Amino acid sequence: MCGIVGCVSKENCYEKILSTLSGLEYRGYDSAGIAMLSSSKTLNVRKKKGYVSNLKGKPLPGETGIGHTRWATHGKPSDANAHPHVSGKFALVHNGIVENFRALKGELLEQGEEFLSETDSEVIVKLIAKAYRGDFFEAVVKACERLEGSYALAVLCSDDPGEIIGVRQGSPLVAGAAPDALYLCSDVPALCGAAEFICPASDGEFIRIRDGNICFCDGNGREICKEFSRVPPESRSSSVMSGTFMEKEIAEIPRALSDTFKSLSATDFAPCARILRGARHVYAVACGTALHAAQAFGDIAESEVRCPVSCFAASEFRYRDPLIGRDDLLVAVSQSGETADTLQAARLAKERGAYVLAVTNIAQSSLASLADFTIVMRAGSEIAVAATKSYNCQLLCLYYLAAQMKYYRVQEFPDWFSQFSSLSSAAEEVFACFPQMSALAAKFKDARGMFYLGRGLDVRTAAEGALKVKEIAYVFAEGYAAGELKHGTLALIEEGFPVFAVSTCSALASKTENALAEAKARGARTVLFSQNVSALSESCADFKCALPVIHEKLMPILAVIPLQYFACRMCLLRGFDPDKPRNLAKSVTVE
Ligand code: AGP
Ligand code: GLU
Repeated sequence: MCGIVGCVSKENCYEKILSTLSGLEYRGYDSAGIAMLSSSKTLNVRKKKGYVSNLKGKPLPGETGIGHTRWATHGKPSDANAHPHVSGKFALVHNGIVENFRALKGELLEQGEEFLSETDSEVIVKLIAKAYRGDFFEAVVKACERLEGSYALAVLCSDDPGEIIGVRQGSPLVAGAAPDALYLCSDVPALCGAAEFICPASDGEFIRIRDGNICFCDGNGREICKEFSRVPPESRSSSVMSGTFMEKEIAEIPRALSDTFKSLSATDFAPCARILRGARHVYAVACGTALHAAQAFGDIAESEVRCPVSCFAASEFRYRDPLIGRDDLLVAVSQSGETADTLQAARLAKERGAYVLAVTNIAQSSLASLADFTIVMRAGSEIAVAATKSYNCQLLCLYYLAAQMKYYRVQEFPDWFSQFSSLSSAAEEVFACFPQMSALAAKFKDARGMFYLGRGLDVRTAAEGALKVKEIAYVFAEGYAAGELKHGTLALIEEGFPVFAVSTCSALASKTENALAEAKARGARTVLFSQNVSALSESCADFKCALPVIHEKLMPILAVIPLQYFACRMCLLRGFDPDKPRNLAKSVTVE
């Protein structure tokens, strides 16, 4: 969600900022802008509602610059509300929300300040300009002292060409170094390909780029010693890729699963053995797709480890004043590791003395740095806003975690443990059903709504399938327990209404079939997904999709793949871009 960039170079760096902003596009945004500062102390700004590509054109002059992709929180998407915002000698980009902006704005208005935008962010640049007495750093620090909320900032001062001041408080910020340029950026993936070395900032830290150096310091200007690490090898290049990122990322699922499994096999769980063995209570929190993975973890931990897990949407967890405390385990699941709600839930758990175990795709993320133990999945960069391969990898990591819990409790692994190594090739086999999914998407492309049904672990798959089609194809869908159909939603079934049922659990196959039959009897067009040969042959479904056979407890990792692909095809056939769904952001860094 939104991104900020800063760059200082020996030569004009407009194109560098533009290309790093393109790298941030996947996070979701509605406007973009760049401010450049030249050695002759001139500030120039170009900002527009809409795509980063609107900023292309003759580069603005300057060797120092900042850029922004905005995801509006205060004030509609417009040219005026786009960042950077300027006041006097300062230009600023901001990611986050200034929660006390009304009070601050009121104060500034009383002092005669005029505002050009409706954003909360403009208040910050005004505060900096007012606090300025010739010391750039001091002015930024003074302004930050007045702010409540979350922010990552990058600021320019026309008195100091060659300098950028960044600060992080609750929103992500990373410093990056390359031989020809120094950077600030909201995330690591966008810096891949530009920077060779990176170092994330922690909350409360300032980053000063000046005199060809990057320096981390606290609010008193005292230097903080930090270590830079080499950028992960995978660098992205959208120009050489055919198709959409979402299609590419679905195609990468087998590779992602095999890399994740290798990495899990090499992970030493001994440091968290005590809590895995003896946690008083286990909680799992996450948002969106990751929440479905967390819920699947709850199901598998209860049935396999006989350990109850309380699962919550991270946004709810914090406000229910949970009972969590010492000797409890909180499992926080997040692809990006930057989701504000999940981070807040993890922080609360830590404050109350619980042990936090993170499952994330980004080793340098905020979540990883606050967790006591981190499982890093190896999905690789996920650019499309809709999560695909990261979900499969989250499930694998969480199943693996459940298996470790069982081992530490009863010195025994679940019987499906040995089948992890077959997941990657089984995922490849699933691809055989893609032509069938394309044909179904063509049949259902004008559907006004859809149901996804499942029982047991398949409820999570159904919910995830429904989420995919909602977020990218803009088709309203419900994913829920098949047994609930007759308790209300059956009323919505009319002639031709698509109903998908996922049925991978043999003990529940006949129950799921009943629900499908009830829907079909009322005119629904039904599709069954199963690996179970008899369930398929005996089903009344209009269309049947046969999945490869693997231990049925592991089937959710595979059964979701056709649903991911179906949603992508629906989206494309309906004329939308699956990588950038409207109103959504990849990384939701505001609450
Ligand atoms: C999934 O397709 C969505 N992009 C969204 O639900 C996402 O899973 C959620 O925002 C959580 O993100 P995270 O895994 O990075 O924390
Ligand atoms: N709150 C700011 C705005 O609405 C910044 C939003 C963002 O993080 O993009 O402009």
